[in-house]
Amino acid sequence: MISQEEAIEILKKYNSPDDVSDWNHFMMSEAVMRGLARHFGEDENYWGMLGLVHDVDWGLVKENVIEHGVRTPAVSYTHLTLPTKRIV
Ligand SMILES: [Fe+2]
Repeated sequence: MISQEEAIEILKKYNSPDDVSDWNHFMMSEAVMRGLARHFGEDENYWGMLGLVHDVDWGLVKENVIEHGVRTPAVSYTHLTLPTKRIV
């Protein structure tokens, strides 16, 4: 499992630190996912890291949003060592 610091470094590769609203979204998504994991008795770190990086491609595609999510898996699989467990 990657650490929060490692996930943030990956996010920085694809997202400008000047886009404060984007970073707020990343961090709030982590917090929400941690809360949901706690509520459902799941792994808070795992769910939190998924929330944190779920829009990792945003800085690459924000001018062409139709690609949003399409590039996330490629970026994620290149940099992340998250388990392949799915959240349903
Ligand atoms: Fe999002």
